[in-house]
Amino acid sequence: MLKPTQVFSPLAEQLEPEGAFVYLDLAAEARRKGIDVISFGIGQPDFLPPREVVDAVKEALDRGFIRYISTLGLPELRERIASYVSEKYGVDVKPTEVAVTVGAKAALYMAISLLTRPGDEVVVQDPAFPTYECVVRHAGGRPVFVKLREENEFRLAREDVEREIKDLHRVRGIVVNSPHNPTGAVLSESDVEELIELAKRRNLFIISDEIYEDYVYEGRHRSFLQDPEWRDYVVYVSGFSKTWALTGLRLGYVVAREEVIRALDVFATNMYSCPPAPLQYAALKALELGTSWFKSYLEEYRRRRDAAVEELGRIPGVRVVRSRGAFYLFPNVRELMGRLRVGSTDELARRILFEAGVVLLPGTAFPLRGGDGYLRVSYVLPIERIREGFRRVREWVEKVGG
Ligand SMILES: Cc1ncc(COP(=O)(O)O)c(C=O)c1O
Repeated sequence: MLKPTQVFSPLAEQLEPEGAFVYLDLAAEARRKGIDVISFGIGQPDFLPPREVVDAVKEALDRGFIRYISTLGLPELRERIASYVSEKYGVDVKPTEVAVTVGAKAALYMAISLLTRPGDEVVVQDPAFPTYECVVRHAGGRPVFVKLREENEFRLAREDVEREIKDLHRVRGIVVNSPHNPTGAVLSESDVEELIELAKRRNLFIISDEIYEDYVYEGRHRSFLQDPEWRDYVVYVSGFSKTWALTGLRLGYVVAREEVIRALDVFATNMYSCPPAPLQYAALKALELGTSWFKSYLEEYRRRRDAAVEELGRIPGVRVVRSRGAFYLFPNVRELMGRLRVGSTDELARRILFEAGVVLLPGTAFPLRGGDGYLRVSYVLPIERIREGFRRVREWVEKVGG
């Protein structure tokens, strides 16, 4: 008989580990075997935020800000986020429409759980950040996958969503992410407007994960908050992990109508009481400094993307879209798999790791079928390492592919 600590809730079993982390462990194993690994696996920036931001944490600790604070975050930080987002997107967000959360991930977890009722259908991009579909299922909902098409630069198209939900009667919302992990796709202004138009017509919520909003290399990022009726349809999620390279601080935020924020307050109270107090002073400092310092990093990341696209183009059997955002590329390796007679994307990624010493995540780590035959490249490495990494892959392909 199973012991009671061996029996888990079927709802908890809807949650799955993140494939990306599996590859971090595999990379560590390869390094232990003496392989000099170049990793395109990790999804976090490689620069440091301004010194003052980190110093603000130390100061907060020295001043004894180590007690519980308000569940929704420091009032002055909520105020600062409201004015920052308002100015950024020309909207009018009130501090009561902001919640500070433990990373964008907790924000997504709570927002999806709050709006998805048992039996509801929720549209999720395929491929996508794995959390979305896990949490929809965890909430008792059913993810409806809409495949992103390479011919459309992996942008979520209204007509594709419409086709998928045409005959469904319990569709409640769409989880959308632009700029997009894992493809780097950026929705255009008209893509965003068309998706909002569909949401209004079908009375759907849009949970918009805009964590990569500042990583856009061509054109401008269009936020779902820019719709005048955002309060009725949109829950906006962002945070400090990517723009400020503060992934370990675990600070995110939500902008939504006040009732949503009040409901998130109850969620967060039961889960973590409040996001870590001293770290919020760093976030406050980050917003005070603004993002002008970030421009030079953005330029550098654009150069890296261009170098990666150029190098990928030299590998036989690989085709890549020059994605406009985030720090990801999503090369198509189907032809390469055929040439090498490799049975699965996962097998290809493992062989590239152990035989060429390069970590590229299999697209299938971003469920479900949409990533099959693709690899995710995270180009958060110096240009020489990027070139070296893809040179190794090319030489390996030339060697084993005959
Ligand atoms: C699309 C997307 N959303 C959310 C997150 C998580 O952000 P945070 O570190 O703020 O929890 C990530 C991190 O990789 C991501 O890629």
